[in-house]
Amino acid sequence: MKRKVLLTGATGFLGRHLTAAFEAEHVPAVALVRATSPWPPSDWAERAGKTTAIFGSALDPTGWRDAAGQAGIGTIIHAAAVVHHSRESVEETMRVNVEGTLQVVRAARDLGARVVLVSAGGTVGCFKRRDLVADEHAPHLDAVVGDWPYYASKLRAEREGQRLAEKLGVDFTVARLPVLLGPQDHRRRSTGHVSRILDGRMPFVPAGGIHFTDVRDVATALARLTRKHTFRSAYHFPGTHVTFATFCQMVGDVTGQRVDARFAPRPLLRGVATAAERMTRYTRLPLPRWMPDPVALEMSSHFWGLGTLWTHKDLHYQARLPRQTLVDTVDWLRGQEAGSAPHAA
Ligand SMILES: NC(=O)c1ccc[n+]([C@@H]2O[C@H](COP(=O)([O-])OP(=O)(O)OC[C@H]3O[C@@H](n4cnc5c(N)ncnc54)[C@H](OP(=O)(O)O)[C@@H]3O)[C@@H](O)[C@H]2O)c1
Repeated sequence: MKRKVLLTGATGFLGRHLTAAFEAEHVPAVALVRATSPWPPSDWAERAGKTTAIFGSALDPTGWRDAAGQAGIGTIIHAAAVVHHSRESVEETMRVNVEGTLQVVRAARDLGARVVLVSAGGTVGCFKRRDLVADEHAPHLDAVVGDWPYYASKLRAEREGQRLAEKLGVDFTVARLPVLLGPQDHRRRSTGHVSRILDGRMPFVPAGGIHFTDVRDVATALARLTRKHTFRSAYHFPGTHVTFATFCQMVGDVTGQRVDARFAPRPLLRGVATAAERMTRYTRLPLPRWMPDPVALEMSSHFWGLGTLWTHKDLHYQARLPRQTLVDTVDWLRGQEAGSAPHAA
């Protein structure tokens, strides 16, 4: 029997595109879905093609290991994660992203399966300078991103996941992604910047950059990765790396709208971030909605350089033209506003 792929995080932005990619690439797959997921089960069959679902949480494999064993799982793509950048729920972020990864590695050992951990390019590719790029041999950047909970959790997940996998004899690799754009980001995990520009809610342009690629191209390449007999230690999925100012212009070109955001110098951003941080610490109240998140502000003055030594060749990964990604992202977001795209969650 051909061994299947188990996908965690199947109801998320990337996960939905991965199920489509499995279908297109003829990869037999099973999705692990939480019973509490906002993706209604009635839509599952329609959208997930031949991918079937088993129910449970990545954090508790006892609830799904037997079902996965019966399905015959050869590879687990672990994409489930808390994808929030703020410092508001550090414990939950660590628990899900780190402990969830370790539980998946343990489950893989029991199932005789391999693990692809979906991670973020910023664990190795976040710089103060625009000209630096991290390939798959680059070191972890604890000193740069370790104070940002999401990246700290991804650093630990990569490192501790790798260590446990070695100990248990599980084949393990890391897929590091930049910001994903494209249609169907129901929870605005990474298309928020585009939404803010569309709504005129970008009062100033940060001094740093953004590195984005198309979620559909990453999904296709990840589906192909599951057919590889051997894994390399990591795979990077570079896309388009531009300053925020250029990104605003690119979105403006696509929408036909003028983006009048002003440039904000780094010291000003740092001052606003520090003030926001102090305010929440002293008042113990959540940040007011109008106040930008301090972590997002700190991150926005950095540049995100990601390169690859082998992903293009090994997986035939090719990011489509950035304009096409932006056109499709904007179309989908506008469709949501108009109420034409169902099931916002
Ligand atoms: N989006 C990006 O730009 C980007 C960039 C780099 C890396 N990544 C990585 O790509 C992966 C997918 O991200 P995404 O953008 O698809 O995020 P997303 O849309 O927020 O989806 C997150 C997925 O994780 C699941 N999940 C969340 N909390 C969970 C928990 N406590 N237990 C079990 N499952 C849980 C969600 O399930 P429910 O439906 O049940 O909530 C959902 O399926 C993540 O590992 C993320 O770190 C994303």
